[in-house]
Amino acid sequence: MSVFDKIPNNVDLSNDPQLQRALEKWLPNFLSWWNEMGPEGFQGYDVYLRTAVSVEPEGWAHFGYVKMPEYRWGIFLNPSKTNATIGFGDGCGHPAYQEVPGEFRNALRRIVVTQGDTEPASVEQQRRLGVTCPSMYDLRNLFQVNVEEGRHLWAMVYILQKYFGRDGREEAEELLQRRSGNTDKPRILGAFNQPCDDWLNFYAFTMFTDRDGKYQLASLAESGFEPLARTCQFMLTEEAHHMFVGESGLERIVKRTAELMKQTKNQGDDEVRALNGIPLSIIQRYINFWYSYSLDLFGGEISSNAADFFSAGLKGRYLEQKKYEDHVISDATYSLTVIENGKLATKEVPLRNALNEVLRGEYVKDCERGLARWNKALEEEGISARLVLPSTRFHRHQGEFANHNFDLGGNLISEEEYEAKAPHWLPGQEDRAYVRELMKPVTDPGKIANWIAPPKSGVGGKPFEFEYVRL
Ligand SMILES: [Fe+2]
Ligand SMILES: [Fe+2]
Repeated sequence: MSVFDKIPNNVDLSNDPQLQRALEKWLPNFLSWWNEMGPEGFQGYDVYLRTAVSVEPEGWAHFGYVKMPEYRWGIFLNPSKTNATIGFGDGCGHPAYQEVPGEFRNALRRIVVTQGDTEPASVEQQRRLGVTCPSMYDLRNLFQVNVEEGRHLWAMVYILQKYFGRDGREEAEELLQRRSGNTDKPRILGAFNQPCDDWLNFYAFTMFTDRDGKYQLASLAESGFEPLARTCQFMLTEEAHHMFVGESGLERIVKRTAELMKQTKNQGDDEVRALNGIPLSIIQRYINFWYSYSLDLFGGEISSNAADFFSAGLKGRYLEQKKYEDHVISDATYSLTVIENGKLATKEVPLRNALNEVLRGEYVKDCERGLARWNKALEEEGISARLVLPSTRFHRHQGEFANHNFDLGGNLISEEEYEAKAPHWLPGQEDRAYVRELMKPVTDPGKIANWIAPPKSGVGGKPFEFEYVRL
């Protein structure tokens, strides 16, 4: 039995010697990356994880105990459609690309490499969280997210190795060489170089940053380059759990904070701190931080790249087929807020050039839904305070609003005013130190840290008290 027989896949790996040769070189490097940069301190324990063994409904969520380095990362693409066509852009209705179209080779490689780079980056960002887990249930969820990001890396490496020849293989190696937060060889995107070293960060990251992934993957899931579309379709099924971890994790923190607030006289931050909870003001600052960094991931508001990708049928809008009638949009325009002569102004641009902003708009709506859920938790506990999303102009490092200063409401302000108020808007050293101080590991099955409420139910058909990790 060869090593390839053990890799779950539906790409006929055992009959693809070229792909085997590429993987043969890459696999040992992946495993040493995982051992060096994966979850610290827990690699030797059995964890109750789901593994994808096929793309069928009964095969993609197979639960059982496994040691993470022995996780069966695999290569899965959703089944191909007969006579698949390009769904949008100038070639709408033409047969889908089964190979990389030559004139878009570089652009497409860049898309795949950028997506691929985020997957190991997040594992690196989260690698030390295990030692401060609030419960065994949460510990398992962290590891589930980590191994699946590992599999997402495999998914992108498959596309690179199978369709991009030698430079694809080189890119696949480099995905294992960059390091999150490293000044010499950082990860490609800003959000993926930010520290994620406490659990409030982790939930905010999986809520907001993994959710960017959902929208990127969804727009590639309808790509006219069919192998990429089918790969992304399957990744989306896994991604849903990551966002659940973030959204429900933050909801549980909010709920717990509300419970603690009710026990105090004035419901103030100091009183919540005295009870070892996380004040709403700190939660709000973490939201502001990760939301704004995640908005950057959608790229510039006005983008000729976005227009080119759409024209070429490579990257569409969110739910392109389901939501829209016109898939060519050659004449449509879109009205955008921009900065002109130091003031906010409205500008009409070709819709194709505004597609990053259109995708960002879908993301914002989804985030608002999450916020509403957390605010409902506050309401249910009888707390009148509410959490909000800042303006999409606040704290941006990419696009139209980078290099300008905005308040939370999106008003242009001076640099002095921004610097003076930023400590109220973004987590500072003191916030981070306080949250870190709260992070004491709780690993007895069924027990939970004081600063977070337990989940409504367990995972994989097991109760919250289940021994998810055999320590
Ligand atoms: Fe991912
Ligand atoms: Fe994810």
